[in-house]
Amino acid sequence: MKNILVTGGAGFIGSNFVRFILQNTDFSVINYDLLTYAGNIKNLADIACSPNYKFIKGDILDDTLLDKVFADYDIDTVVNFAAESHVDRSIVDPQIFVKTNVLGTLTLLEAAKKHWKTDINDKYSTDYSAGVKFLQVSTDEVYGALGKTGRFTENTPLSPNSPYSASKASADLVVRSYFHTFGLPGNITRCSNNYGPYQFPEKLIPLMISNACNDKKLPVYGDGQQIRDWLFVEDHCSAILAVLEKGKQGCVYNIGGNNEIANLDIVSLILQTLNKPKSLIEFVKDRPGHDRRYAIDNTKITTELGWQPKHTFEQAIQTTIQWYLNNPNWLNEILSGEYMGYYERMYER
Ligand code: NAD
Ligand code: TYD
Repeated sequence: MKNILVTGGAGFIGSNFVRFILQNTDFSVINYDLLTYAGNIKNLADIACSPNYKFIKGDILDDTLLDKVFADYDIDTVVNFAAESHVDRSIVDPQIFVKTNVLGTLTLLEAAKKHWKTDINDKYSTDYSAGVKFLQVSTDEVYGALGKTGRFTENTPLSPNSPYSASKASADLVVRSYFHTFGLPGNITRCSNNYGPYQFPEKLIPLMISNACNDKKLPVYGDGQQIRDWLFVEDHCSAILAVLEKGKQGCVYNIGGNNEIANLDIVSLILQTLNKPKSLIEFVKDRPGHDRRYAIDNTKITTELGWQPKHTFEQAIQTTIQWYLNNPNWLNEILSGEYMGYYERMYER
């Protein structure tokens, strides 16, 4: 029986992970989330009353509250999803990315380090209680951009290009230093682009589904030939569980499903599925510093931990589109709130 602190558990991947853990393990989940614009408590409405689940509204920068949560719930595992996660926003306002993603992660590491010592008087003891683990959820974007060939391995040098990826890479380095210097038990995972239910509609796939449904233009950056390596969110969740259970101390694991697709192909597929015309596509000014291609080499996690994705893109993109069609209220609530101010600033002015 584990007591997992899931930070950022009200966001896209975090909420899918909380549900996945409650359905597939007997772990207790403490969901700790600040509920920023991207966090939505309704993402977990169906499991809110589960006996093994507790929601706490809190900031990963709040060391006092974190201390209390670690003590009150006897936390033995941390999975840190909490972050500012959108590249476009990081170009407009980088500071919050460094605060949340770097300083927030540092604050969380300190709380774990403090509470997991068996001997709290010995500051530099590496004698952690059995079974504790800190898992940092990172991204393939820390490796920078690829040309036409090659894939990111765990040994690819960090070379982030956006303020978002720079903040995630910086957090990875701080986490690494805690593994190395303090012997804090843990892992870093670096996953490729996710898609699936509950993704905030500022990201490519839900944005395009939402606009197509409303007969709005679909803004494709540059020539639309940028490539991402798409993974269904549930496969990301199962990979994180595999790393929690079997990952070797201090190791990095890349997560991906060998599924490279150009943006324009995804947008065209969404239009075709929704029976909407291609004329809705609008090529707009490219994102500054736009990474051309990401691709994950998943050899380490598949061979060392025996993890495999269970979903094909062909099936799971249909499940995803259908989920947005079946949940208009979820989408409309976001579209009627402060998000539209962001949308106007980004795309219409
Ligand atoms: P998201 O933006 O949907 O969710 C982020 C969550 O973190 C929100 O619920 C938000 O309220 C919460 N949060 C933000 N600041 C906080 C703070 N200071 N304290 C507590 N909670 C805070 O993001 P996502 O797409 O679910 O991504 C989750 C994690 O996975 C991020 O760390 C991201 O870098 C990583 N990741 C995302 C992808 C992807 O394709 N979305 C791929 C690889 C890795
Ligand atoms: P995004 O979902 O923002 O993820 P990331 O930038 O972290 O990979 O974008 C995925 C791709 O889609 C990326 O190449 C940028 C592109 N894109 C568009 O062409 N138009 C858009 O409106 C958005 C949001 C993204």
